[in-house]
Amino acid sequence: MGRAKKVVLAYSGGVDTSVCIPYLKQEWGVEDVITFAADLGQGDELEPIRQKALDAGASQSLVGDLIKPFIEDFAFPAIRANALYEGRYPLSTALARPLIAKRLVEVAREVGADAVAHGCTGKGNDQVRFDVAIASLAPDLKVLTPAREWGMSREETIAYGERFGMPSPVSKKSPYSIDLNLLGRSIEAGPLEDPMVAPPEEVFAMTCSITDAPDASEEIEIRFESGNPVAINGQNLDPVAMIREANRLAGTHGIGRLDMIENRVVGIKSREIYETPGLLLLIQAHQELESLTLAADVLRSKRQLEMQWADLVYQGLWFGPLKEALDGFMDRTQEHVNGLVRLRLHKGNATVIGRSSSHSSLYVPEMASYGSEDQFDHRAAEGFIYIWGLPIRLWAASKRASR
Ligand code: ARG
Repeated sequence: MGRAKKVVLAYSGGVDTSVCIPYLKQEWGVEDVITFAADLGQGDELEPIRQKALDAGASQSLVGDLIKPFIEDFAFPAIRANALYEGRYPLSTALARPLIAKRLVEVAREVGADAVAHGCTGKGNDQVRFDVAIASLAPDLKVLTPAREWGMSREETIAYGERFGMPSPVSKKSPYSIDLNLLGRSIEAGPLEDPMVAPPEEVFAMTCSITDAPDASEEIEIRFESGNPVAINGQNLDPVAMIREANRLAGTHGIGRLDMIENRVVGIKSREIYETPGLLLLIQAHQELESLTLAADVLRSKRQLEMQWADLVYQGLWFGPLKEALDGFMDRTQEHVNGLVRLRLHKGNATVIGRSSSHSSLYVPEMASYGSEDQFDHRAAEGFIYIWGLPIRLWAASKRASR
């Protein structure tokens, strides 16, 4: 591995990224380790994290507030694309990675570093996302990946940290690996590695259990403009406040938990627990409004492209050409996605109970109605069906003749 003198390390305050600091210096001869911790609304206090990096030997410890761009430029496009990896996971972790990578590269330029580093292991998706994003933004920058190379078990990693004065982490007691930000939490490892073991209640922090959710249901109305959620119950909310409020509402009613077997980029099937209450609620409402406002063929094509969008974001290809091209399609369709969706939240379920759009609705009552206002020409159906069914009648006739 080519050595570097000055390195900017993506820093979370966790065991792996903390141990990366002495490791880079002791084993790889890095002179300056500058840490960068991103605030993505995870709710951790960042000052202790900043100090922790210095205690572990960082020469500079930087913290960046990325919440606003995270929500506006990453979460909202994912809502517009109804992005659900494998039909379920709304990419709460995956969406953060290209933003962290981008900021990491910017910081490296600002401080004149000759490399960046991260603490991802060699088994996960996040290494793929970081490495590919950094390579596309800054092909000249080296990427150092100590945790992928050091070959230490978790216990050995902790022991290594202790040798360099790092207090052994409280998280030694927690068997889980947790990633979190304002969009949600991902919980894996420990007892969850047995796919048959039910997730214990203690792993959840953003959502209430169905048992504890209120018995009374709650009705809410979410307003969208150009595919972006802009108001709940008539109250305008900026994007960050929108995610917070959607998290609160869905979380209160026990909505937004996922338990799935997921296919990682590196070929492993893994068992993942997620809680992403707001994002799932907003995507559900957004899909519903699209049903009302998008033409049938556009909607069908969009549903297929949404899968590709989710796949490529999951797979770390955020800064690639397909993403750019698909965004063009998504954005063009969203001009029409304006209106209101009404939902009932109750005991783990969000149920759509109404939708409306004053300018963009393609629902025409005179066409849909069975009442006296019906304008649809019923007799025109006969000729349509004659031609529509012609191929199948010809096929059926020839089958009968050849019997
Ligand atoms: N499997 C999820 C993803 O690839 C989350 C990964 C990070 N989770 C964690 N507990 N470290 O997006």
